[in-house]
Amino acid sequence: MTAPSPGPAALPKTLSWPHLLALGVGSIVGTGILTLIGVGADRAGPAVLLSFAIAGAICACAALAYAELSTMMPKAGSAYSYSHKVLGSTVGWIVGWSLILEYSLVVSTVAVGWSGYAAPLLQGLGFPKALTQGSELGGLINLPAIVIIAVVAGLLAFGTKESARINTVLVIIKILTLSLFVAVALPAFDATNLSPFMPFGFGKSMSPDGIERGVMAAAAIIFFAFYGFDAISTAAEETRNPGRDLVIGIIGSLAICTLVYVLVAAAAIGAMPFARFADSPEPLALILRQMDREGVAHVVAIAAVIALPTVLLGFLYGQSRIFLAMARDGFLPASMAKLSSRGTPVRVTTLTAVIVAILAGILPISEIAALANAGTLIAFAAVGTCLIVLRKRDPNAPRPFHVPAGMAVGTVTILGCLYLFASLPTKTLVACLLWNLLGAALYLIRGRRRAG
Ligand code: ALA
Repeated sequence: MTAPSPGPAALPKTLSWPHLLALGVGSIVGTGILTLIGVGADRAGPAVLLSFAIAGAICACAALAYAELSTMMPKAGSAYSYSHKVLGSTVGWIVGWSLILEYSLVVSTVAVGWSGYAAPLLQGLGFPKALTQGSELGGLINLPAIVIIAVVAGLLAFGTKESARINTVLVIIKILTLSLFVAVALPAFDATNLSPFMPFGFGKSMSPDGIERGVMAAAAIIFFAFYGFDAISTAAEETRNPGRDLVIGIIGSLAICTLVYVLVAAAAIGAMPFARFADSPEPLALILRQMDREGVAHVVAIAAVIALPTVLLGFLYGQSRIFLAMARDGFLPASMAKLSSRGTPVRVTTLTAVIVAILAGILPISEIAALANAGTLIAFAAVGTCLIVLRKRDPNAPRPFHVPAGMAVGTVTILGCLYLFASLPTKTLVACLLWNLLGAALYLIRGRRRAG
């Protein structure tokens, strides 16, 4: 397909598949498995294991679709670029607008998740509680979440390659930490903790306390744990050999993470009754403490604090690239596409960081995560649609990676995403609708005129 446009907005090619694999695992393993596993257990009980399987299977189909499309169209805008090209400028805008929601709110969610592990350590050093947690936990403002976003944004502005190297080291720490949790918690597996397996049923339904529960309600939240491989596709223009590197990065990183998740979720659910860690801001550390493994809990908390920023790195990086692609198409002000002398879009990274830091400082984690998921599900459904439309419209186009049973994979991606979307909390669906109405208004005022 078309080469990246020359001139100031062209990005330097500095990455190959080990960087992308690290970027993928770095963006996938994060707050989903470290924190939202507690929210998931609260929503589904032990059947959160089933929620993991459902969300993972749908993401596997989406990842395959991404692998085919990103190698056909190695563009920084990811799902936005594919939709813009394949489904037209209006759908492109809707998907781009959804990606802005996804990438921004993932950064906020992960920063709050990071703070969940960092806050007890900081409080131990004498930091006041009111400044280390948001209002839902009785605090005033989540200052650690704001600070970590500022640090990661600074790292990104410094340059892609340097950031990717640090990312690789942090990814290794993250995998080792989860392995440590499994090694300690799995031997305590007790099958009686899995019973009753599905206390809240399968489909989303309202509980007496006003929270929507069920295996699907949990899957719609746990979905957060699996994505991040899509952030790899935003690095396409900076990849030396996209045809090979993107496939290894996208599929490889999701496969590694799924394996790790299965083990962590089984270890957590088997170790004790789910109610003892449901909805905790630091469930894995809490489980270990309740097993009288205080020292290991401390190690896991410190490692989470050190390594979780890789997710922030992946998504802030991806966000800036999507803005860049949308600015190039005239959907956002051209000044946003300006690169610094180090080849990084400093302006847009800074702007994004300021907005997501404010959100992280004040909003509760489960609500931000659910809304991030809504944006992601719209983008994934669009990618599934692009896969099917391109197969029909242009069956003989060169495809460096050809998904086996492509039509079936595309169909499962679309239907699966729609089912997960419908299983999100009703409040989230309303917020998503409002976001899209705002997007539609902006499109009518500006987008159509500029993008033509
Ligand atoms: N999958 C990423 C996480 O769980 C977004 O933090």
